[in-house]
Amino acid sequence: MNVIIVSNYESMSEEVAKIVTGQIANKPNSVLGLATGGSPVGVYKLLQESYSRGVDFSQLTTFNLDEYVGLGEDHPQSYRHYMEEHLFSKVNVKKENTHIPNGVVQDLQAECYRYEELIKRAGGIDLQLLGIGTNGHIGFNEPGTEFGSTTQVVDLAQSTIKDNARYFASLDEVPTQALSMGIKSIMQARNIVLMANGGSKAHAIFAAVKGPVTPDVPASVLQLHPSVTFVVDQAAGSKL
Ligand code: F6R
Repeated sequence: MNVIIVSNYESMSEEVAKIVTGQIANKPNSVLGLATGGSPVGVYKLLQESYSRGVDFSQLTTFNLDEYVGLGEDHPQSYRHYMEEHLFSKVNVKKENTHIPNGVVQDLQAECYRYEELIKRAGGIDLQLLGIGTNGHIGFNEPGTEFGSTTQVVDLAQSTIKDNARYFASLDEVPTQALSMGIKSIMQARNIVLMANGGSKAHAIFAAVKGPVTPDVPASVLQLHPSVTFVVDQAAGSKL
């Protein structure tokens, strides 16, 4: 595991954006695994800028980690909406090559199988971007999730609902369930980059990097992956 500690959010975003554009340069038809939330906003901004400088997104395929159950693409807090706003509508990625679990289908279980199958058919993920929850979750794999899990319907932890309430008008509006790639799906990515900023992530980063490998801290499983880079700012890395 490679741990890079940088001074602030901007440098974290630059470092991660550099890794992504490097991946695209090496393999223009890469399969990228993408995350949402506050952590990657700066990375997506820099990727938009790289597009205006000539980086070509047209051959990429993307798979997002997760989506809220019950929020369709028109909902401003759905992750499909987030991705359109922060990246997809700003670069030349083909819409049909962008994948996000569909949280408004009738049969959620079938959607999970379909998603896992799509990743397989695309040849697996070359580079997976991750954020981390204050409780150590990756994707929406909350503490206690089995390491063998694939894309599944998950109940969000109370702490996650509270952490994400900042994006909704009230706590009651935060969905309580999501579809999330599983721990196994994430671990099958060939390369993984986890980014974190801010003191609220310091404990989770310490537990993920230096703690025991345990389902109690889902991100600790990354210690078992052959190609993982953590890019954290000083505050998130302060306990390392
Ligand atoms: C988002 C995701 C989550 C977030 C994590 C951190 O797609 O899967 O694991 O990465 O909750 O969220 P932020 O970046 O908002 O602190």
